[in-house]
Amino acid sequence: MNLKKMVGIQAASYVKDGMTVGLGTGSTAYYMIEELGRRVKEENLSIVGVPTSFASREQAQELGIPVKTIDEVQKVDVTIDGADEIDKNFNGIKGGGAALLFEKVVATYSDHTIWIVDESKMVQTLGKFPLPVEVVPYGEEQLFRLFKEKGYNPTFRMATETEKKVTDCGHSIIDLHLETIENPEALATELDQLVGVVEHGLFLNIVETVIVGRTTGAETIEAIR
Ligand code: 5RP
Repeated sequence: MNLKKMVGIQAASYVKDGMTVGLGTGSTAYYMIEELGRRVKEENLSIVGVPTSFASREQAQELGIPVKTIDEVQKVDVTIDGADEIDKNFNGIKGGGAALLFEKVVATYSDHTIWIVDESKMVQTLGKFPLPVEVVPYGEEQLFRLFKEKGYNPTFRMATETEKKVTDCGHSIIDLHLETIENPEALATELDQLVGVVEHGLFLNIVETVIVGRTTGAETIEAIR
């Protein structure tokens, strides 16, 4: 059973006629966008998509979903996106697909945020998945050294063996291999204050609904805080 496809299709059913929809990024969001494309074509669903990456924009456009940027809409009704880890408090790590900046901006202006994941992403404590930190290239080696000194085990995200990954906004990504994040709030505050850090992959108090794909079926969980 393809769990990512199952939750992608399930999440698309939240979308109603006339909605502005934040379109997430990644292999799970891919199926949600595909299903929305099907509904636009076969059910005459009328929506506007706000993609969180160039890749999702391209996919939506190919499927005939009208798209706008976050600045061209008043607000977003619902955003549906994947996640790399979700803990028991419904905090998450995102950015495995390097789209964390647009993803956080779009989620911030959304009335409702839904994350779609397979069950492997549900964890007790965040941190096994490397935490992405998006940085401006100028001064990135200094930030890298700082993270190393702090014991955060940084690595630059690479596109090839020799070329650093460049995000849709022209930034680099430093992945922090932390293994466990005891206090996500404190770490988020620390990263938010560093000059040269554009955004990080800690998504705290953002999601309202999580749809988890299990071998037994899709489970929908409303986040309680
Ligand atoms: C991209 C993301 C993705 O949502 C996250 O990496 C999950 O991806 P996938 O659905 O492919 O496992 O944050 O920046």
